[in-house]
Amino acid sequence: MSKKFFITTPIYYVNSVPHIGHAYTTIALDILARYKRQKGAEVHFLTGTDEHGANIEKSAAAKGVSPKEWTDQVSAQYKEMWKELHISYDDFIRTTDPLHEHVVQAIFEKLLAQGDIYKGSYSGKYCLSCEQYYDESEMLEGGLCPVHKRPLTEVHEETYFFKLSKYQDALLKFYAEHPGFLSPKTRAHEIINFVKGGLRDLSVTRTKVKWGVPVPSDPAHTVYVWFDALINYISATGGGTVLCADKTEHREHLKKIGAEKFEDFWPADLHLVGKEIFRFHSVIWPAMLMALGLPLPKKVFAHGWWTVEGEKMSKSLGNVVNPVEIAHKYGVDPVRAFLFREVPFGQDGDFSMLSFKNRYNSDLANNIGNLLSRTLNMAAKNVGDLPQEAGAGTATLARAQELEKAIDGFYNELAFDKVLESVYGFAGELNKLVDEKKPWELAKTDKAAAAAVLLELVCGLRFISAWLEPFMPTVAQEMQRRLAPGKIEKYPPLFPRLDDEAKGK
Ligand code: MSP
Repeated sequence: MSKKFFITTPIYYVNSVPHIGHAYTTIALDILARYKRQKGAEVHFLTGTDEHGANIEKSAAAKGVSPKEWTDQVSAQYKEMWKELHISYDDFIRTTDPLHEHVVQAIFEKLLAQGDIYKGSYSGKYCLSCEQYYDESEMLEGGLCPVHKRPLTEVHEETYFFKLSKYQDALLKFYAEHPGFLSPKTRAHEIINFVKGGLRDLSVTRTKVKWGVPVPSDPAHTVYVWFDALINYISATGGGTVLCADKTEHREHLKKIGAEKFEDFWPADLHLVGKEIFRFHSVIWPAMLMALGLPLPKKVFAHGWWTVEGEKMSKSLGNVVNPVEIAHKYGVDPVRAFLFREVPFGQDGDFSMLSFKNRYNSDLANNIGNLLSRTLNMAAKNVGDLPQEAGAGTATLARAQELEKAIDGFYNELAFDKVLESVYGFAGELNKLVDEKKPWELAKTDKAAAAAVLLELVCGLRFISAWLEPFMPTVAQEMQRRLAPGKIEKYPPLFPRLDDEAKGK
């Protein structure tokens, strides 16, 4: 079997209710997966849930259920949300899967045996919410957590360390030799400077956290959530068969996900993550892989964060946007497309219903939807049945072929906004062509000429429908149905305008 195009989202913490920020990473990867499949690649799209740690234990206690019951519930909510948002993942891993827990334990013991993990003790400032230590240089003024802006807790504990410092030079060399690894480029400097500043060994076990993977040789310790979580990329793809050959259940899992061996996936072509977890994926993770002697991922890409009307999303502010609610009202596809047209991928963005509705009207209803309905209405009168081939030799076909190359380049840079900008721009050009050529008037004097213009438009629309498929799979299919060879029916608008509401708030 050939190497799969292996791409991952982070695995989602089950201590909060999923919102549009979480959906962002996953929809982005879904768009890429669908595009690559369209181009014939064998894609393996992995996602899942991150289910250990003190916070999860706390959330469960607050709900009066066991951690396992709580993680079952929230993990199921994520799965439900991905279904609603038409996410085409190939595999969903949970860190509470026995398969995963075994691999974490095997990796821990292997690194311990080879001296990359050693026992020591740690005194430092700890954030209980991040489940992470911070040193002076990382804290905010007044010794506050840089993420939660709350005081840190002084902790002293016996712990095992991963020898991160040992990999400092190897990491810098790797970054230099693989300039595409840290993406986008604008975020690479921060990581390189961080590593140049000196890496300290990382505490990778906790004695206070009970809800975690126990260290087999010292069960008073559980494995640090991040060390546990990152390993999901290995365990889900059958790395266990390499690292703990006695665990035959991994082979069953491999069969289920349609591969014969770990090497069919490894290494990942892309780990897509939000900017706040870039460091884990671009410093700690590659160092872990170096220690394990496994090939490193081709790319780690960090995207930006969504705020809502200028504010960070939070339960306490009551401004959490649930994409499924918007999707139920306006359709899944417009939500998916909005997120990637509104903000250049990699930068931060701000969500507001007003900008959603305005873009819906301008990009979808007035541009694509209008082009489709006016073209098909006029074609029904002046062309009759639609042919298999349309637009041969026209400027529109040439332009579409040229754009297709540009679009491929945009996908390589993960510039989803530029893909959509090109598609909407092309639809705008076709709408202009209608206004200039006026096929309805032309038909009065020269029906053949009018039919030729209309078929040129059909040709352009067929390209548009294929280009939209990764972003708007349902809408694109419906467009393709309407543009298919044969009789043209009467259809309702693809995107009914949101008139009154858009004028409102
Ligand atoms: N569990 C860790 C990842 C471990 S991967 C080995 C985690 N989970 S998370 O649920 O907190 O975040 C998952 C993803 O959601 C991250 O990529 C994060 O950036 C993204 N987002 C969560 N809120 C977000 C916004 N408000 N905006 C954009 N994306 C954000 O981190």
